[in-house]
Amino acid sequence: MTILVTGATGAIGRLVVEQLVDRQVPVRALSRSPHKAALPAAVDVVAGDLADPGSLTGPLFDQVSGVFVFPAETGVEALAERAARAGADHLVVLSSLAAAGEHARDLRSPSYAHHRAVEESVSASGIPATVLRPGPFANNLLAWSHAIRSGDTVQGPYAKSAQAPIHEADIAAVAVEALTTDTYRGATLHLTGPEALTRAEQLRTIGNALGRTLTYQEISPGEFRSAMSRFMPEPIITMLLDHWSDTVDRPDTALNTVQDVTGRPARTLAQWAADHAADFGG
Ligand SMILES: NC(=O)c1ccc[n+]([C@@H]2O[C@H](COP(=O)([O-])OP(=O)(O)OC[C@H]3O[C@@H](n4cnc5c(N)ncnc54)[C@H](OP(=O)(O)O)[C@@H]3O)[C@@H](O)[C@H]2O)c1
Repeated sequence: MTILVTGATGAIGRLVVEQLVDRQVPVRALSRSPHKAALPAAVDVVAGDLADPGSLTGPLFDQVSGVFVFPAETGVEALAERAARAGADHLVVLSSLAAAGEHARDLRSPSYAHHRAVEESVSASGIPATVLRPGPFANNLLAWSHAIRSGDTVQGPYAKSAQAPIHEADIAAVAVEALTTDTYRGATLHLTGPEALTRAEQLRTIGNALGRTLTYQEISPGEFRSAMSRFMPEPIITMLLDHWSDTVDRPDTALNTVQDVTGRPARTLAQWAADHAADFGG
């Protein structure tokens, strides 16, 4: 049994690879730049680009039973079709909680449209699948690293809005559990971190890991939109503002799925901040 991991050099995929190697599962990793992949020596790193289905050939699927599917902009359909033709019998796909369409804001978000299309491509292959739908990644907070490296204040809107950011290692741990057992075939798993924290509390938590006092300086949504318009597409800015404005009065719900699947509590944001202290200059 070999597991093919796509998105293998990314934040989640790299940890999926490492955790599979720790369990002594044979791993093949797809990367557009295998020479830069820096994955464990036991891993068979293969060149390929999901956006170029012609590159997903040759020995890529040899002996592959399961595939971790990264939700690339294009190419998931071709990957899933080829996996089916090669006889793979389980796909574990990284989707998003937005794809659940639980809130009006989700239904109009680019994340909903994209991840629903990814899920449909996986389902069309006919291979039994496990769909992972994580909420906001704690890694999104790396967007504060420049401000935190250069001062003690982070500017942002909706200081009192509360989300339950999830540690990338927990998403990977759930993926590995799904890839290495039969328990979650056909399941859709909604994943969050263990607690909802306001934006101001999230910043304080990072400050605590660094031994610093960091202050969230609230700005208006309009000010945020104009500050971010140089760095982010408009629909993504709108998606973020919609989420934060919705979660001022109704905090995101923290779910127990990580613990249910892995048998240990989900990592806290304090743990994430300690793991990433160096990213913030700590
Ligand atoms: N941020 C959130 O809050 C959130 C929430 C829910 C879901 N998500 C989903 O999670 C994804 C991010 O996951 P991540 O953090 O692990 O990603 P990441 O760190 O950005 O890494 C993505 C990896 O995918 C590989 N990749 C990208 N395009 C590819 C292609 N065309 N062909 C082959 N490989 C390709 C790249 O590897 P190579 O360069 O080696 O090819 C890259 O290292 C988002 O795109 C979104 O779909 C995000």
